[in-house]
Amino acid sequence: MIAIEQITELRHQLAHLRQERSNEGRISTVGFVPTMGYLHEGHASLIQAAKEQCDIVVLSIFVNPIQFGPNEDLDKYPRDAERDLALAKRLGVDFVFLPTVDSMYPTPTKTKVKVDEVTTLLCGARRPGHFDGVTTVVSKLFNIVQPDYAFFGMKDAQQVAVIQQMVSDLNFPVTIVPCPIIREEDGLALSSRNVYLTEQQRQEALVLSQSLCRIDAWMQSEEVSTVSQLRDRIIQHIETSPLADIDYVEILSFPQLTELGINASLQAHKGQAIIALAVRFGTTRLIDNRIL
Ligand code: PAJ
Repeated sequence: MIAIEQITELRHQLAHLRQERSNEGRISTVGFVPTMGYLHEGHASLIQAAKEQCDIVVLSIFVNPIQFGPNEDLDKYPRDAERDLALAKRLGVDFVFLPTVDSMYPTPTKTKVKVDEVTTLLCGARRPGHFDGVTTVVSKLFNIVQPDYAFFGMKDAQQVAVIQQMVSDLNFPVTIVPCPIIREEDGLALSSRNVYLTEQQRQEALVLSQSLCRIDAWMQSEEVSTVSQLRDRIIQHIETSPLADIDYVEILSFPQLTELGINASLQAHKGQAIIALAVRFGTTRLIDNRIL
């Protein structure tokens, strides 16, 4: 495994490896896993998927300042490069790209990549500019790495929808591979931000995954058949935790992320709707979701 900070160096090494393999008559595909580090099993699952599908795997670790709002957790975002590098090595990553903020943004960015519509609801509505920061950095990373496949977790389902839209609109020659949400044994979706939770918050945060799990039972018992009934039922369940402060509970079409109408039938939207949750426990905002 090679860890690289410089953009030119990564490009050089990747081109060299591709050339070497092509001289041997082998076509090699590059799989890319962009992350902000503090790796956990969710990130590991993306790396494993990339290893299975691609010949060369590139992992990036970059806490991207332009996707954080002024009152968000950029300064305290958890970091542990040494542990991340050890895990990446164990998982068989070929290149870890760890650029500095100065090398990614040598002068204040004057060019931004902005995706409309899919960014207007859910986290896009609560975190102004967040997705512009994500699409700008992912565009830069795609241009630097030039991957054939890029792996993203459905934990951030809106991010997947936004990146897919961007790749389609701007003709990036990359295939986006969405990967399933990895959870703790008790159901909590893994997140680098889970370390902020106190033990009690961590315990109560289980209402998120529980409410997503119970949807089938609620639908089968026929007390829940429309979008608004399901939304109310989920809110009721989350509110059983006194520590939960709901940011949103939304049921939208997926991947378009448009409103379904409160009386829309859930059965009619099976496979094409997302139930997306954002809930604060103390100062920590957790997200979770499920495709219906
Ligand atoms: P980060 O939060 O580090 O997440 C990196 C990738 O890991 C994302 O695709 C995310 O969806 C995925 N991931 C996180 N938790 C997961 C889980 N429990 N199960 C499956 N996948 C999970 O998302 C970002 O970084 C940034 O926005 C980034 C795309 C790197 C741009 O800066």
